[in-house]
Amino acid sequence: MNQLFDIPGAASKISGEVDSVFLYILLVGLFFFVVTQGALIYFALRYRKKKGEPERETPYITSNRALETIWIVIPSILVLSIFYYGYTVYMKMQAPMPGAQEIGVVAKQWLWEFTYPDGRKAVNELHVQTGKPVGLSMTSEDVIHSLYLPDFRIKQDILPGRYTKMYLLPDRPGEYQIFCAEYCGQGHSLMLGKLIVMDAHEYAEWSGRQAGESQAAMPPARRGEELVKNSGCLGCHTTDGSPRVGPSLKGLFGRRVELSDGSSVTADEDYLKESMTDPGAKVVKGYANVMPTFKGTLSDADITDIISYMKTLK
Ligand code: CUA
Repeated sequence: MNQLFDIPGAASKISGEVDSVFLYILLVGLFFFVVTQGALIYFALRYRKKKGEPERETPYITSNRALETIWIVIPSILVLSIFYYGYTVYMKMQAPMPGAQEIGVVAKQWLWEFTYPDGRKAVNELHVQTGKPVGLSMTSEDVIHSLYLPDFRIKQDILPGRYTKMYLLPDRPGEYQIFCAEYCGQGHSLMLGKLIVMDAHEYAEWSGRQAGESQAAMPPARRGEELVKNSGCLGCHTTDGSPRVGPSLKGLFGRRVELSDGSSVTADEDYLKESMTDPGAKVVKGYANVMPTFKGTLSDADITDIISYMKTLK
């Protein structure tokens, strides 16, 4: 059925149930579409006025209790069955999953920030394990966003000033697209993320690697490179000199940069730091003001290490 309607394959048990509700409504609708359109065409042909036929008068009908009862009772039962079916699946989706791993989600123009129970943070990439329920506790720093996982058939608005929750139980390893499903400004279509579902073995390996990396003393430039990779920077900036949504990071440090207001500035440490914490302050000529702020996402130490990395990109 999924191929027929061009919808992604189901990645959890609940997505299969959502598809069943969809199929049920579709089949009920299809049945009545065929019956009513069929009757319409049949009557139009059967009772059309033929050439040379005299005018006929339709008898005057005031009421028909049996017919009226049928077309009130049967549709009512059908509508109630659709409501009941949809409601039971919806309530299942809303119910908190016991033992769920709590993951914090902060949405902002225009990125996703995920915080794991151990305090580790990641931007635009969420790693979870198959068979382990996940509870997303979500809030926004600015406007309304909406986290949408088409493969899981789940979507929940994220509002500034309050928390909303969403649960999922992944059971198929793979990479799944996260969309923002609420128009939130110029960078809305760039607000993309990935849910990476791993089996227990893979997940343990990945967690170990993460822990190892955070403990190992890394040279600042090397650490900066990791931060650039893990913070979503490469979604918009390249390191090979080619422009993307934003200017390339290659050869940027120390260069003279032309700004959209006609002035120019040298890309020194202060400029680069400001570009990460207040990206709208100085926008490079030819580019749109779409970069999200990393204030609060990256610490001062992180920013310093990223600048060290950028110095190596000559
Ligand atoms: Cu965030 Cu659209």
